[in-house]
Amino acid sequence: MRSPSLSHAFLVLVGAAVVVAGNPLVTSKSYQATVSGDNLMKHAEKLSQYSKINDANTRAFGTIGHNKTIEYIKSSLDKTGFYDTYLDTFQYLYSDGTAALSVANVTYEIAWLTYGPGGDVNAPLVLANNLGCTQNDFPTAIAGNIALISRGNCSFSDKVALSGAAGAVGAIIYNNENGPLAGGGTLGTDFNPLGPYVPTGIVSGSDGKALISAVEVSDKLIGNLHVVATNENRTTSNVIATSKSGDQNNIVMSGGHTDSVPAGPGINDNGSGSMSILELALQLSHFRIKNAVRFGFWTAEEFGLVGSDHYVAGLSEAERNKIALYLNFDMVASPNFGYFIYDGDGNAFNITGPPGSDHIEKTFENFFASAGVKSAPTEFNGRSDYGPFLDVGIPAGGLFTGAEGNKTAEEAAWWGGQANVAYDVCYHRACDTIDNLNLPAWVQNSKAIAHSIATYAVSLDGIPRQAQRTLIPRIALPHDRRRHQACGHEVLAS
Ligand SMILES: *[C@@H]1O[C@H](CO)[C@@H](O)[C@H](O)[C@H]1NC(C)=O
Ligand SMILES: *[C@@H]1O[C@H](CO)[C@@H](O)[C@H](O)[C@H]1NC(C)=O
Ligand SMILES: *[C@@H]1O[C@H](CO)[C@@H](O)[C@H](O)[C@H]1NC(C)=O
Ligand SMILES: *[C@@H]1O[C@H](CO)[C@@H](O)[C@H](O)[C@H]1NC(C)=O
Ligand SMILES: *[C@@H]1O[C@H](CO)[C@@H](O)[C@H](O)[C@H]1NC(C)=O
Ligand SMILES: *[C@@H]1O[C@H](CO)[C@@H](O)[C@H](O)[C@H]1NC(C)=O
Ligand SMILES: *[C@@H]1O[C@H](CO)[C@@H](O)[C@H](O)[C@H]1NC(C)=O
Ligand SMILES: [Zn+2]
Ligand SMILES: [Zn+2]
Repeated sequence: MRSPSLSHAFLVLVGAAVVVAGNPLVTSKSYQATVSGDNLMKHAEKLSQYSKINDANTRAFGTIGHNKTIEYIKSSLDKTGFYDTYLDTFQYLYSDGTAALSVANVTYEIAWLTYGPGGDVNAPLVLANNLGCTQNDFPTAIAGNIALISRGNCSFSDKVALSGAAGAVGAIIYNNENGPLAGGGTLGTDFNPLGPYVPTGIVSGSDGKALISAVEVSDKLIGNLHVVATNENRTTSNVIATSKSGDQNNIVMSGGHTDSVPAGPGINDNGSGSMSILELALQLSHFRIKNAVRFGFWTAEEFGLVGSDHYVAGLSEAERNKIALYLNFDMVASPNFGYFIYDGDGNAFNITGPPGSDHIEKTFENFFASAGVKSAPTEFNGRSDYGPFLDVGIPAGGLFTGAEGNKTAEEAAWWGGQANVAYDVCYHRACDTIDNLNLPAWVQNSKAIAHSIATYAVSLDGIPRQAQRTLIPRIALPHDRRRHQACGHEVLAS
């Protein structure tokens, strides 16, 4: 059912004529006043319910929980009648799995590598020579056995494919530092022309050393490598909504990602960012705006900015030029939060956004200053859905409350919370549930988002509109390069 927008209409007398002026022009103050913690939590509860369907505890793209998220966003926006909405649908390769290893009945921690195949193999371990980067590094004795290979010099993908080419039935990579591989690893794609992939995983450097010593003592050291994996193309969608009102040649765009990692429900990452903008999109329908406002709800961010990249790559130059700026909101309610603003002017981290990004940063800084709340810059490194917009020269900015990094003592003095503890201890984990949200931070950031949208929906002063945009030539990024950028999260490939 459509809610009639004229329910908010008021009459203005101009001379003797009666003019229906419609809704009031949006202002920062009136738009901020629509932000309600209760409404934000209602959206979070929906996402939480969706993540629990079939006890999945995830909203990774292509799952039922993510499909429901997409439907909820689109149908909520459609009910306002304020937007033209559509689903920007495409296919992408999904990958999820686990690995387990025991050698001579001793269990070792082993991390699965994204895009690695499933399988259950029992065979002796045989050492690869050097770093396993050329076919010569794989002795003939590896055929029928499990290759044990050091990390380093070439991609995990090459090591695993060369193992397969040498006839190995499995491959165990060990870290070249003592500990486990931080942040997980990936084969980058599901195919390598050097050879067929075999079941694989990566162990810590210290376990690697122990295994090498054991192999040197016994050449019949039996390993059991058990990998369960899903690698399949899945159909998924961005939701794009553009106000029917406002100047369609000067579009203020804002976005957040709707998917979670496979490992968790993703309520803070990035439910919080996308639900802030959903709520603000619904509230905007009560206002009049000068510039059109567009919202992008991105899919498959966690697989490397896939949805936003797909959207931007599909825009013609003329369509790109209509987008005046892009505002990104990912993780805006971290439990041990900081109030971080992307460093668009580059004065803190020396990575400067396209002209206009400095103005966006200033708009957020002014908001926090006038609210009497301390804010701090965060690196504008393109590791979220604003990256593809930067690549085509669109000024961008946004907010972030922190992920796996630790809060400093100075930051704890500014914002409270715990020093030397991660901003979000549940980042990319199963515990990123509805209890992982800091509601006061979420409300404060939603007001900041309201301020930025209200500001630019009325005036683009300070945002260059005629300047020649510098286009960074788009390259087809392989999956592993994309994963490198995913979600502020460095994923090492070799
Ligand atoms: C999710 O939606 C896509 C269409 O976008 C469909 O192909 C897929 O089967 C759906 N998956 C589930 C689990 O419902
Ligand atoms: C592993 O354990 C099984 C059953 O406990 C035993 O039969 C087998 O000999 C053990 N293998 C090794 C290599 O120790
Ligand atoms: C690894 O690469 C470095 C730099 O390219 C090279 O110096 C070194 O010899 C390589 N090591 C091995 C074992 O291949
Ligand atoms: C996914 O789709 C691509 C392109 O259509 C295809 O080349 C690839 O084989 C598919 N992968 C899987 C695992 O189905
Ligand atoms: C959450 O989504 C927003 C919008 O896409 C993005 O700016 C932000 O970086 C995301 N945060 C993380 C840590 O994924
Ligand atoms: C900032 O970056 C530029 C270009 O990337 C570089 O030339 C310059 O040395 C950097 N400045 C500082 C202070 O790191
Ligand atoms: C955060 O601090 C803890 C100790 O309080 C430490 O174990 C951990 O490695 C730190 N994490 C990061 C990302 O620096
Ligand atoms: Zn995220
Ligand atoms: Zn993430």
